[in-house]
Amino acid sequence: MKKITIIGTGYVGLVTGAGLADFGNYVTCVDIKESKINLLKSGTIPIHEPGLEKLIQYNVREKRLFFTTDIGKSISQAEVIFIAVGTPESENGEANIDFVKQVAKTIGENLNIYKVICTKSTVPIGTGKIICSIIEANNIRNINFDYVSNPEFLREGSAVKDFLLPDRVVIGAVNKKAFKILKEVYRPLYINETPMLHTNIETAEMIKYASNSFLALKISYINEIANLCEIVGADVHLVAKAMGKDGRISSKFLHPGPGFGGSCFPKDTRALASFAKKHETRVRLVEETIKVNNKQKDRMFIKLKKLLDYNIANKTIGVFGLSFKPNTDDIRESPSLSIIKAILKEGGIVNTYDPVINDEIKKIYPTLNSFHSWEECSKDVDAIVIMTDWNVFRGIDLKKLNSLMKTPIILDTRNILSVEKLNEFGFSYDNVGRVDIN
Ligand code: UDX
Repeated sequence: MKKITIIGTGYVGLVTGAGLADFGNYVTCVDIKESKINLLKSGTIPIHEPGLEKLIQYNVREKRLFFTTDIGKSISQAEVIFIAVGTPESENGEANIDFVKQVAKTIGENLNIYKVICTKSTVPIGTGKIICSIIEANNIRNINFDYVSNPEFLREGSAVKDFLLPDRVVIGAVNKKAFKILKEVYRPLYINETPMLHTNIETAEMIKYASNSFLALKISYINEIANLCEIVGADVHLVAKAMGKDGRISSKFLHPGPGFGGSCFPKDTRALASFAKKHETRVRLVEETIKVNNKQKDRMFIKLKKLLDYNIANKTIGVFGLSFKPNTDDIRESPSLSIIKAILKEGGIVNTYDPVINDEIKKIYPTLNSFHSWEECSKDVDAIVIMTDWNVFRGIDLKKLNSLMKTPIILDTRNILSVEKLNEFGFSYDNVGRVDIN
């Protein structure tokens, strides 16, 4: 079992740290933010991620997981170091790797014995070489090290499960020695015969962008098909279901909706498109994926306007769900933000309810009304818009909802309500590409 240090305690760093400790390794998670480390030491986690708190607490109790702000010491004592710091988007769309570079410098300065340095953060293709040269430039004692790119494929909301039961592990390593060490780090997965792909560094970096962009493309594709379904009277769910039965297509990521959000797809697609342009080529399908997604977000507002006879001013709209998807408190690039902005801009009043995000939303839109239950959020509203497919909205009591609202109008951007039931309870409604087949 290896001694591992994870630099950066965002959701990737924390899930990786807890997961690798659960695999039997000795893991130290390090972050420069003292308040965050103190919180983690007290057994509390700063994000909403199902199963993570328990996994952390268990491995802390088993004395396999530690938290510190002492970066120098944690680098010196590690056999394997994972870089998991943020790579925020820069103005030109590319990922900004300043934090990664800073960490590489610190690693170089603190190298004492042979180590494997491994990047988890999503970084532009070619960053591995830059990291190696920074470590080398600061490696005054001339210690031997190997570099590995080991991208993460964790979905927020199911990141723990994705880490413990991955579809594959990608290890971009320059030599067999480093690959073997990483295999030991992931030993339980290796024994379980999880596919482990040994690639070069650039291939591993590319796999991450190519995977995320392809999934984003699939979503934009089904959203366009849904829009066409609306025109011709076809039902997109049945179209997607039948498409998905073809093993070459697969049923995953064919769910239409208000457009993808989150910290990965929007950023990674833009990064890949701008990376290609920088290299004087294009990934046109990815460029179109981005455009289609932006349009899809706008389309949701147009649908709402249509339901309200093109008159939003002074109307109160209840927004159900703020996070970009269920089981997370992340609102980065969430389609809910776009629709709220558009409603407010046209003089509408916004009520919100989300199972985990409460008054924090007022930091972005101070004039909206945030409520702690869907019932309060629905009182006397002119319309409801479902923006996130939280389970609580799937089973909502439509009769009660109707009785609370001023007018029974619903825009279901996640297609989670039964069209039959909406008809039964007298709602005017719209969704994304569905028809009532009864
Ligand atoms: C994604 C990737 O799935 C993960 O492998 C990667 O490493 C990080 O980025 P995440 O952003 O957490 O994970 O969420 P994901 O479940 O992929 O959903 C992204 C967005 O696409 C959400 O807004 C979601 O609502 C939307 N989506 C997803 C759809 O609209 N339709 C679908 O069929 C699937």
